[in-house]
Order: sequence, then structure tokens, then C-alpha cells
Amino acid sequence: MELKDKEYTLTIYGAGVMGTAVLSAILKSNISPAPKRIVCCTSRAESAEKLAKAYPSIETTYGDEDNFKILGESDVIVLGLKPFICDVVIDKIGPLMKDKILISLIAGWKIERFLEYTPYVSRVMTNTPAKFGCGMAVVSFSEECKQFEDYIMKLIDPIGKALQLPEKNMDAATSLVGSGPAFCLLMMEALTEGGVRMGIPYAIAKDCAAKVMEGTAKMVMETGEHPGALKAQVCTPGGTTIGGLLVMEDKGVRSGISRAVEEAANIATKLGQKK
Ligand SMILES: NC(=O)c1ccc[n+]([C@@H]2O[C@H](COP(=O)([O-])OP(=O)(O)OC[C@H]3O[C@@H](n4cnc5c(N)ncnc54)[C@H](OP(=O)(O)O)[C@@H]3O)[C@@H](O)[C@H]2O)c1
Repeated sequence: MELKDKEYTLTIYGAGVMGTAVLSAILKSNISPAPKRIVCCTSRAESAEKLAKAYPSIETTYGDEDNFKILGESDVIVLGLKPFICDVVIDKIGPLMKDKILISLIAGWKIERFLEYTPYVSRVMTNTPAKFGCGMAVVSFSEECKQFEDYIMKLIDPIGKALQLPEKNMDAATSLVGSGPAFCLLMMEALTEGGVRMGIPYAIAKDCAAKVMEGTAKMVMETGEHPGALKAQVCTPGGTTIGGLLVMEDKGVRSGISRAVEEAANIATKLGQKK
């Protein structure tokens, strides 16, 4: 398998929420060598029409007949199907992916499950903020796919940030990265409601909560400091913050969040088990 000097086709098979986030990253990536054709496959005609309108430079197909045809013509495949759909169609689409470069976005599905079809498998776990260019992606590679590491990392990086991780950590990353936005949103909702409870209008409380979370994340990224050290800097002795933090500890917020990551990771492991 060689992409250099080839007029190759890249297909996003299952171009829903995550597939289109990766599509946006690919379109921004100035990847070299660049695909000659980018095709997005969906199940329904209306999804294909919407994509064609939103991304005029790409082709779209829908329905098994046309999707299977394009899959057979593709060189690089981004698999963005839901896990239960993939379970149903894998016996049909697997042989069409023979020896292609496969980038799987599917939660819980191990690299090993695709190796009977192609040796060039990478597994990417990303999240919905990728739609806005501030997503996180962790990437693992099969042994044979390591020769395409650079290419795949460059393709995925415009999602926001992309890091490599051994596959043994992927279920944990599925939880931390994939489900993480939902966990943060629950915290954001709780912060907002605390503000509302104390009399701040909802819209303002929501903006405050969102900006506090964004700013805090930025502070951690830019300083590289341990979150605990930054937290200690905000705690005036006898002050408001330490008072609030002690209530959070009494209520088990810290372990609640950590255990949520554990639970989601365990569920991700079960998702990937062959039925
Ligand atoms: N959403 C998240 O936050 C998130 C986070 C991390 C990982 N993931 C993983 O990303 C993957 C995709 O999730 P998603 O949220 O993007 O799903 P989604 O929005 O439902 O997108 C699925 C896509 O697959 C298409 N599709 C369904 N059946 C098909 C078939 N038989 N042939 C071809 N295309 C078909 C759908 O087409 P139609 O639009 O026409 O139905 C849709 O474009 C999942 O495996 C999930 O585990 C998701």
C-alpha cells in the first residue's frame, strides 16, 4: 500500500456527527499527498443531500449499493458507523476494505477485529468539540499501520489536538475523551444552576459557567501545572472557595466523576466484545 504519487480516494463511511467532524479536520489539514476524491457515505438520501450542500467539494453516496461500490474504490476509509450498525454490516463491508488504510472511529471496537480485512488499521477516539476545531483525539495503530502514522496524525490533528496512545488505554480514552464532554456539561449545568439558585439570570449564569470552564482548561494547558496546585492558589485561608470545595468533597463529587470515567470505560470494553 502506497499513497505517494497516487490519485487516491478517501471515504468517510458513516458521515454523521463524528464522521463530519473528521471530514472538517481533513478539509483543513492540507494533507500531503492529498486525496483526489473525498466521498461521504450515509444511510439516508437526506443526510447525503445535507452533506453535499454543506461541503460542495466532496462527493456523497447513500444506500448499500452505492456505498459498497465506493468502498471498493477507496484507498483510505474513515469508519464512522455506530457500533451496533457496524456489527450488522461488517461481514459485507469488511471484504471491501481489503488491504486499505482504515481509520476507525468506532467506540469499543478493537484493532484486532479489523485485521482479518486489512493490516493497516488505526483506531481514533475523538469527541463532539471536534466539530468546532477544539476536539481531542487519541490514536492507536496496528503494527503494519505504523508506516502511516505521520499521515494519519496530520489528517486528524486539525480536530484540535491529537495524541498517540497504546491500544490498551483506548477504552479508558473512550470514556475520558468520548464521554468527557457530557461529564463536563453536567458540571457546567450544575455550576449554572448554582448561580441561578443564588439569583443570577439563567443566560448570564450559563455564560459565566462556560467561560469559567474554558478559562480553567486554558490555564491548565498553558501553565502545565497540576490542577491541584492551581486550585490551591485560589483558596484564600478561611475564604469562599475552600468552603465550597469542602462541600464538594463531602458530597463525593471528586470520586463521583472519577467513577463515572471508570463506568463508561467498562461499558466501552463490553461494546467491543464480539457477539
Ligand atoms: N457522538 C459522540 O460523542 C462520539 C464520541 C466518540 C466516539 N463516537 C463514535 O463515533 C461513531 C459514530 O458516532 P456518531 O455519533 O457520529 O453517529 P451518527 O451521528 O449517528 O452517524 C452515523 C452515520 O452512519 C450512517 N449510517 C448508518 N447506517 C449506515 C449504513 N448501513 N451504511 C452507511 N452509513 C450508515 C448514518 O447515516 P444517516 O445520517 O443517513 O442515518 C450517519 O451518517 C460511533 O461508533 C461512536 O461510537 C461518537
